[in-house]
Amino acid sequence: MIGELLHLQVAAITDLAPGLRHVRLVAADSSRLPPAAAGAHLQLRLEGTTKTFRNAYSLISPPGRRDAYEIIVRRVPASRGGSAFIHEQLNVGDRLEATWPGNLFPPVRIARHHLMIAGGIGITPFLSYLADFAVSRASHALHVCCRESEKDVFAPWLPATGKAAFHWDADGQRLDIPALLAAQPAGTHLYVCGPAAMNEQVIEAAAKAGWPASHVHCEHFGSALSGGEAFRAFLSRSGIEVEVGQDESLLEAIERVGVAAPCLCRGGACGVCATPLLEGEPEHRDHFLSPVERESGRLIMPCVSRAKTGRLVLDL
Ligand code: FES
Repeated sequence: MIGELLHLQVAAITDLAPGLRHVRLVAADSSRLPPAAAGAHLQLRLEGTTKTFRNAYSLISPPGRRDAYEIIVRRVPASRGGSAFIHEQLNVGDRLEATWPGNLFPPVRIARHHLMIAGGIGITPFLSYLADFAVSRASHALHVCCRESEKDVFAPWLPATGKAAFHWDADGQRLDIPALLAAQPAGTHLYVCGPAAMNEQVIEAAAKAGWPASHVHCEHFGSALSGGEAFRAFLSRSGIEVEVGQDESLLEAIERVGVAAPCLCRGGACGVCATPLLEGEPEHRDHFLSPVERESGRLIMPCVSRAKTGRLVLDL
C-alpha cells in the first residue's frame, strides 16, 4: 500500500565504470513490485554504521516492469554519503527498505515531440522514457552531454530504437543549445536532467527563445551543495531542540530525533517538505521556493536548506 515501505533485496551489482554502479533490486519476499511509470524514482533507505542515508534514484527499468527495479548510481565524492555507501558497502543479498516509486518528472503525453537533454548521470530518467517511447512510438530525441569516455558506458543502455546523440567538451562536439531549441517543431516539450549549472543554462536558453514554461521540465539531482556549518533547530510543536551536524541535512536531523516530517524528493525540488519558519535566517538551497517566498523567510525546505544564523525555530 502507498505510504508503506517496500522491502527489497540486492539481486545484482555491476560496476559499469569507475564511480558508476548498476544495482538490481528485487522484492525481498520474491513478490511482484509496484509498477512505476517513465521518469519515476525510488527513495532508498541505506543503513550506514553511524547514520541512515535516504537517497532518491531514477529507475532505469522499463516502465511497468514488476520483477526488478534497476538504478545506476554515480559516486559523488562530496555527497551526503548515500552514493559512497552504495559503492563501498552495499553487497548482493543485502536487504534494504525503499519508498514506493514516486514520479516528479513524467513525460507529457500530449507533447508532439519530446526533446531530452541529459548531463552525465542525468541520463537515467531518460532511459525509462526511451523504453516508454519505444512502445508508444512517440516522437523524441535525446542529447547526452558527458565525458567522451562515458559515451561507451551509457550507449549500451539505450534501446535500439532510441534516438540519441552524444556531446562532450571538445571542438565540434559541444551541444549548441540555442540552435537545438530553435530547430524544434511546435508542440515540443523539453526535459532536462543534469548538474544544476547545466539545467539553468538550458532553462535560460529556452526562456530566451520564447518557450512557454509549461513546455520546459527539469529534474535536479538534489542540492548543489551538501552539508555546511553545524547549527541548532528548535522544533516548536514537538518541543525538541536538535543539533544539525556538518554532514547531515536539517531533514535528517529531524528524522534522527523521531519527528515525522513530510518529504518526497529529498533534493529541494518537489516542495513536499516545505516547513513554516518561525525564527532565524535560512540559507535557501532548494529549487522550489519563489524569490518572493525566499525573501519572506517564512518557509524552509529542510531536505536541503540550512541556517545562516546559529539557530532556527521551525513550526514542526
Ligand atoms: S522533499 Fe522535496 S523539496 Fe524537500
